[in-house]
Amino acid sequence: MKIRNATFVMSNTDYKKCPDVQKPEYAFIGRSNVGKSSLINRLVNQKDLAKTSQTPGKTQLINHFAINDEEWFLVDLPGYGWAKVSKEKKNEWGKMLKQYLLKRPNLYGVFVLIDIRHNPQKIDLEFMQFLGENGLAFVMVFTKSDKLSKSKIETMLEEYKTIMLETWEEMPKYFVTSAEKGDGKEEVLDFIGSLNKDFEQLKEMES
Ligand code: GTP
Ligand code: MG
Repeated sequence: MKIRNATFVMSNTDYKKCPDVQKPEYAFIGRSNVGKSSLINRLVNQKDLAKTSQTPGKTQLINHFAINDEEWFLVDLPGYGWAKVSKEKKNEWGKMLKQYLLKRPNLYGVFVLIDIRHNPQKIDLEFMQFLGENGLAFVMVFTKSDKLSKSKIETMLEEYKTIMLETWEEMPKYFVTSAEKGDGKEEVLDFIGSLNKDFEQLKEMES
């Protein structure tokens, strides 16, 4: 899929205040510093559309971006699991994220970002469990693939597959990406393109 334009819409702390739109949207979520904002920028070919930082905890709000004349939306979310955030902030963000995920009517896919360099982490596995239990469709997006060799990437993927198959019937769909180099970009965009088509068909069937 080709990106013709991408613009910032608004930032919110509350799902109720998110833009009132009927088009599909896709949420990028994962641990702090995993590369959510960077990957969004890479997908839309802009350096600074989503704010990034070397310091975890940069994204603190629900950020909406409109893509291709508001045909669909990308949502950049705060990361979870950052130790240095106060307990109050963690609870606040956790609540905001959960509410958004459970109640946003046009949310049509969750992209769970995972740093390919790290062994499977409990917090990510639990988060995917939460999505599954609540009937939220998700895919796994491994990030920062430029930091590992091809063979090491394969080893890490095998490790994830093994652990996912302990609780899931099959390995969820996944992508291996690098915001730095652009790897995986076309695959992610084409997948979103196919979801957009499904969304339209569903809408037509409903009307
Ligand atoms: P929070 O908003 O704090 O939760 O972080 P985030 O998940 O949005 O991460 P962000 O995109 O801000 O990136 C965090 C750091 O990782 C930055 O220093 C990025 O430059 C770096 N980074 C992100 N993606 C990649 C990648 O694909 N490769 C490499 N080498 N570095 C990356
Ligand atoms: Mg961010």
